[in-house]
Amino acid sequence: MPDPIVFTPPRGMRDFYPEDMALRNTIFEAWIAAARRFGFEQYDACVVESLDLLKRKGGEEIVDQIYTFKDKSDRDLALRAEMTPTLARMIVARQNELAFPIKWFTVAQCFRYERMTRGRKREHYQWNLDIVGEPSVMAEAEVIATAVQALRLLGLNPDDVRVHVNSREVLADILIKLGIPRDHHAATFLALDKRGKLPDEEISALLKLNGLDQTHIDSVFTLLKIKTLDELKATLGEPTPALERLLAFFELMKSYGAADMITFDISVIRGLGYYTGIVFEGFDTAHSLRAIFGGGRYDNLLSDIGGKPATAVGLGFGDVVIAELLADKGILPPASPQRDVAVAFMDDAQRLAALQITRTLRESGVNVDIGLHPEKPKNFFGRAGKGGFRRAILIGPDDLTRGTVRIKTLADRTETEMSLTALPS
Ligand code: HAM
Repeated sequence: MPDPIVFTPPRGMRDFYPEDMALRNTIFEAWIAAARRFGFEQYDACVVESLDLLKRKGGEEIVDQIYTFKDKSDRDLALRAEMTPTLARMIVARQNELAFPIKWFTVAQCFRYERMTRGRKREHYQWNLDIVGEPSVMAEAEVIATAVQALRLLGLNPDDVRVHVNSREVLADILIKLGIPRDHHAATFLALDKRGKLPDEEISALLKLNGLDQTHIDSVFTLLKIKTLDELKATLGEPTPALERLLAFFELMKSYGAADMITFDISVIRGLGYYTGIVFEGFDTAHSLRAIFGGGRYDNLLSDIGGKPATAVGLGFGDVVIAELLADKGILPPASPQRDVAVAFMDDAQRLAALQITRTLRESGVNVDIGLHPEKPKNFFGRAGKGGFRRAILIGPDDLTRGTVRIKTLADRTETEMSLTALPS
């Protein structure tokens, strides 16, 4: 006997029933509207990638989380875990034709075999915004301001969400000052990113494994106590170009009118190896959830995969955590999407008349659902109410004789009678 079929999706995957689509659409619409408002162009790509593109040697968690499989010709393939390698591949494929800087966005489903916790699934949709070919911090500012715009469209403000910003380049300057050589930096960043997820002793052990001695490990932990940009400046002594860039970024955010949502936070490192400069993450102010979005500058990825060098900044903003936050704040869209009109008929004799009315309404731009078989009033009005329709029209034998229809507004149960010819207006 084969195992019985299970009617829930595989663990960590989601189904979206019609009532779930209202929230998902609200989030996607805010993302897309913000991206368009800020002049990003939309792109898309296949969900399946070659495994080679996605594998990196960075020691990042994400590489171990990739869903892999072989196709029937024995090719090693994978479901994308993030969009960034795919974006890099698409740009390198046309690097000679594209006019840089480019600003692209997408909403992409991503798959990661993760341990499941709140806000963490094995499949999620991720809004990606990327600017490729712009070395100045205008790129970071533009990307973050676009994310802030999406948050505002969703009804969130600085009391709800803050973007925490740091710079790996500035951290590198400090690590050099502390005597930690550059070839230890990448692994140091990945170890430090695990703070909060692993106890400090385990982080120390990771740093030791990466070749840092105890004095260096102690100074790294002290470094993480820096709270403000002024303390950062004081630690560095001489301002470095990286620090100047970080300060310029904070200045720019004032002109974007988004400074109230931005804060400096030395603990933001990011868990992906490719970031080279400013990095950032969006958090709810109560810190009750994991990062809502994250991103940063990654100036080497295109050349790392075999393209010409190109600077890049981008972010990924998932649908799962933001949905949790909107639910926590009670700012969810109505459970059922508002539909315009439901039309039905009582007997077969009114089928064609109902269809004619439906067609007229549809052609004049109204969204209409027509009942597919004769219905009794009780059934029809009950169904139309549950379905979230604004208005309901039931055609009975009397309507045809009189040449009129009765339109019921379901919210207040009022009824207006109208001649068939006046209906579209
Ligand atoms: P990431 O930090 O791995 O960055 O993911 C970005 C966001 O996607 C997270 O903040 C979270 O909202 C969402 N997310 C990630 N994994 C899951 C999951 N298992 N379940 C639910 N939500 C999840 C990146 O992926 C980078 N590629 C972003 C980027 C674009 N950097 C430059 N351009």
